[in-house]
Amino acid sequence: MKLPVARKEIKNFQPYIPGKSIEEIKNKFSLKEIYKLASNENPLGCSKKVKKILNNLYKTFHRYPEGSSLILREKIAKKFRISKEEVIVGAGTDELIELVAKTYLKKEDNIVVSEHAFIRYKMAAQLMGCKIISVAMKNFLHDLISMGKKVNKRTKIVFIANPNNPTGTYNKEEELIWLLNYLRTKKFYPIVVVDEAYYEYAKSYKNYPDTLKLRKLYPNLLILRTFSKIYGLAGLRVGFGISRKEIISELDRVRAPFNVSVVSQHIANIVLDDKEHIEKSLNLVVKEKEFLYKNLDKLKINYIPSATNFILIDVSPYKGSYIFKQLLSRGIIVRAMDEYNFPKHIRVTIGTHKENLLFIKYFKEIIKKKGN
Ligand SMILES: Cc1ncc(COP(=O)(O)O)c(C=O)c1O
Repeated sequence: MKLPVARKEIKNFQPYIPGKSIEEIKNKFSLKEIYKLASNENPLGCSKKVKKILNNLYKTFHRYPEGSSLILREKIAKKFRISKEEVIVGAGTDELIELVAKTYLKKEDNIVVSEHAFIRYKMAAQLMGCKIISVAMKNFLHDLISMGKKVNKRTKIVFIANPNNPTGTYNKEEELIWLLNYLRTKKFYPIVVVDEAYYEYAKSYKNYPDTLKLRKLYPNLLILRTFSKIYGLAGLRVGFGISRKEIISELDRVRAPFNVSVVSQHIANIVLDDKEHIEKSLNLVVKEKEFLYKNLDKLKINYIPSATNFILIDVSPYKGSYIFKQLLSRGIIVRAMDEYNFPKHIRVTIGTHKENLLFIKYFKEIIKKKGN
């Protein structure tokens, strides 16, 4: 039987490779304890408030969810003092990234993105078969001036991860304003997607942009946030976008009708205001980041100071993939960074103190062994 042929873009498409799962590594190495520091999740898990409601929630499982995540959108809108028509909820920000691409990109169009930006932007453009204008970073930071200058009349989307994954660096408000003003003076109006997946970790850093304020002046901004990181709900797949209502309504037409499950909508709604859990999670990252920095300094290992819950560590002269494999066999999952063209780096999520201690212990053991 002759099967239909997939689009040519699919043939060249490299699927995203997620971090190794705990079960997979447990079986492979016959280990009892596995510590996952690979996917920038919250090591404390989610809020205790979630446990309380789970027992009753099953009663609604036979019903389709409310299609547009209305109650959650209303709650988000209230929190940020905007209207619910300016909010879209997705199955993680991942879905929203793909949704913007599907909504706006034709083959003749292009996106502008920085070289080592979060990889899903390039993948979304590839999927649509359009051109990717990739701009070199400066000091591991998106070079927003060069990115602005690469925009042309076929540019439909500029993607900015702020802070960026995997570098952990962030662009300041004045840099973002420069880009938005420059595009305006050139009369280019691509959608400027500012992906703030790590917003809660970064917001108190000096001159971190207040995009909610900027969106009033620059209506082509689309802000993305997620429940996967500090909220500790990566497994539930919920994220949201904020933009002017014309953009949101276009995205909404492309969105699958029941894209976010009953459970995800309900739980995201409950944790949105859980200040206690957010504060506890943030404090852990602040404290443990210092612990990791101090230990890496002692080992004379370079790293990029991070505004997030992970650190990009330069393990040269070793290959990142070597350190990754060595840690894996000891039950610690981190990420090698070859797909980001950082062959001599690993990315480590900041875990609990116990996890970080073990990471440092094994990391030290691996580099010492090789050195001798
Ligand atoms: C910068 C950035 N954006 C988006 C995502 C996707 O997150 P979500 O779980 O909301 O799809 C990630 C996940 O690691 C990320 O690092």
